[in-house]
Amino acid sequence: MKSATLTENPYADLALTPEFFASRRQELMRRLGKGGVAVIRSAPEHIRSNDTHYRYRQDSDFYYLTGFHEPDAVCLLIPDHPEHQYVLFVRPRNPERETWDGRRVGPEAAKERFGADATYSIEQLDEQLRKYLEKTEIIHFRFGRDEDFDKRIFNLLKYYRYWRQRNGVGPHAIVDLSETLHEMRLYKSSQEIDLMRHAAAIAASAHKEAMAAVHPAMSEYEVEAIIENRFRREGASGPAYNSIVGGGINATILHYVENSSKLEDGDLLLVDAGAEYQFYCSDITRTYPINGKFTPAQATIYEIVLEAQIAAINLVSPGTQFDEIHQKAVEVLVDGLLKVGLLTESREKVLEEHLYRKFYMHRTSHWLGLDVHDTGKYVVDGESRKLEPGMVLTIEPGLYIGESEEIPQASRRIGIRIEDDILVTETGFEVLTSEVPKKIEELEAIVGKG
Ligand code: GLY
Ligand code: MN
Ligand code: MN
Repeated sequence: MKSATLTENPYADLALTPEFFASRRQELMRRLGKGGVAVIRSAPEHIRSNDTHYRYRQDSDFYYLTGFHEPDAVCLLIPDHPEHQYVLFVRPRNPERETWDGRRVGPEAAKERFGADATYSIEQLDEQLRKYLEKTEIIHFRFGRDEDFDKRIFNLLKYYRYWRQRNGVGPHAIVDLSETLHEMRLYKSSQEIDLMRHAAAIAASAHKEAMAAVHPAMSEYEVEAIIENRFRREGASGPAYNSIVGGGINATILHYVENSSKLEDGDLLLVDAGAEYQFYCSDITRTYPINGKFTPAQATIYEIVLEAQIAAINLVSPGTQFDEIHQKAVEVLVDGLLKVGLLTESREKVLEEHLYRKFYMHRTSHWLGLDVHDTGKYVVDGESRKLEPGMVLTIEPGLYIGESEEIPQASRRIGIRIEDDILVTETGFEVLTSEVPKKIEELEAIVGKG
């Protein structure tokens, strides 16, 4: 199997442009309405152990509006301000700290590089916030991520109570910013779609490399290493979520991330791994036999999941309701389970009483974007949301059959999920992850042949 990298890929070295971030800020300010102000906080840093941190990853909302990726920053968007509609607070330059912890852009360069109307050191935040907010009415803020910062925002409201009584203006309410911003993030622009195509291409190349290498006596963590090594070699920041590499019974644990067992001859391997490229995620699952050949029972169950996945994907089109995709997948899975005798009640009863949940206990889809489980409502006006061009979702049905006595021996220890990333287009759909084989004969032709 060829393991050359994707340097020929036309999407390599892409990044969102300053114009993209500016257009997102303009659109959000338009939606905030009169008197609105948005306060967006960078992601906090998290301790991994003692005095070392997890690798920093900017908050998706913050990134979407600024392109700025340092911690300890705040962005204000104030549509009614005469001069400073976009204000950034960032860490001050500090040569000594920068020698230890890495470069800082600093307020001066941030103004130039990130296009802010005004920039300040983060140390001036409280003082400047009081000035910038004094003529606003409603603070749009996503609380719940950083308790200390939440407190500072609540304290501002307390401060402004007196001010408002005296001056008749000043913020008096906090609205969850998700209501506006998260709806915007659901619709991907062509720049974002290009990045997602590239994140998908990287993950696809990694899955194929892993497939070609897999053989009995390997360990789950070796497969994980191949995948994540490829992610980094291709310029991804790393996995978009903790990679799941589960052989045999481990594949029936939905969020199995230990990846610590030996692979067994005769078992299936489930690999759920996606890359993050320029902050955008891909999310792919493939399941295949560790020794390169499906047993008849494995093949039968696999075909049911594949049929469900393809039927669900084929429904994707503007106007289709999000829930119809899940319903379709469930129906095909149920028909298959009835046919092979793993469910024996009537079809009606199985569907009505959700008896299939014994083998299929999760939903079929989620939005995908800057977050692997991306933002945007699934229900609008009481109805399952209709798909529209520019939305990206996963389709990932599965069947998980444990080791219980009531299951025929040959069908035990089977965990199968097949997951692709789907862009809704004007006329239908585009599978962003179609490069990764999923038909039985394709998988048998590649697994272990590296
Ligand atoms: N890997 C996370 C998910 O598929 O939703
Ligand atoms: Mn997923
Ligand atoms: Mn996944």
